[in-house]
Amino acid sequence: MNIVVVGPGAIGSLWAYHLHLAGHHVSLWHHNPPESGAMSLALQTIAKQTLPAVSFTTNSHDELANADLLLVTVKAWQVETALAPLLAHLHPDTIIVCMQNGMGATDAIFDKIQHYPLILATTTHGALKTDAQQVCHSGLGQTMLGAANLSGEQCTFLAEVFNHALSEVHWVSDIRIPLWNKLAINCVINPLTAIHQCPNGTLDEEPFRPIINALLSEIASVMGAEGLTTSLEELSLRVHQVIVATKANHSSMKQDVAHQRRTEIDFITGYLIQRAQQHRIAVPSNLHLFEQIKQMEQPWIQS
Ligand code: PAF
Repeated sequence: MNIVVVGPGAIGSLWAYHLHLAGHHVSLWHHNPPESGAMSLALQTIAKQTLPAVSFTTNSHDELANADLLLVTVKAWQVETALAPLLAHLHPDTIIVCMQNGMGATDAIFDKIQHYPLILATTTHGALKTDAQQVCHSGLGQTMLGAANLSGEQCTFLAEVFNHALSEVHWVSDIRIPLWNKLAINCVINPLTAIHQCPNGTLDEEPFRPIINALLSEIASVMGAEGLTTSLEELSLRVHQVIVATKANHSSMKQDVAHQRRTEIDFITGYLIQRAQQHRIAVPSNLHLFEQIKQMEQPWIQS
């Protein structure tokens, strides 16, 4: 397939490299493209093996026009601004796959993209950019894909395409389920690690138990009101498993705050709060974390 990866950050670069290895024609779209028109990327695999650098074409309108698939891996708050200017260059059948932390990232642009086959994706792979030209695959995970509109439902074959590149990938009939389960994990781990500037594993310590419980019982209520079957016990188990599996990792929000970058809080806890308000459910513990993160990022968002 002809694939353009929009936003070659850590996750975008990981997928770009693996899709290239699987034999696809991959190019990149970067908000700040190199003048040379190409970007070189090497991969450090999960087994700590460094695979050679590959040169990817960047920001080519021809590649956009020929794209069978656009994989959008920018941050949640960048989706609208990154995608809007590209749409006029795409063929109407180009499949758009949006893979972000959080939920609601495509809402603001939905009217403009709903005519393309639209897929939402969520992944638990860990990746980090060790420098501009190298991506390190830091944790094995799973990826879920599901349709966000009717024409997206015709794209179940994509699970095989993605699985062949970087397993495990599953197609799900209701993408809201994995998205909400991941949202619950992010609502706990991301703001807490960002506020305390600690690795994920610190949240396994006793003093964090009451706040994690309070956050998750609010989240379980909202998920119930959204029609999803879950329980506090199930969510606690899931969050605990991720805390343990990624104990040495620094969450994306912790890193955003440390580097004074805008966080994805509006699409993580902010989305939960929005849905809670809709259902008239009080979520005071989540609201408190939301306000703390908003206050922390205010100085660099304004400048
Ligand atoms: O955003 C992140 O950092 C990740 O989604 C997760 C799962 C919390 C692991 O660090």
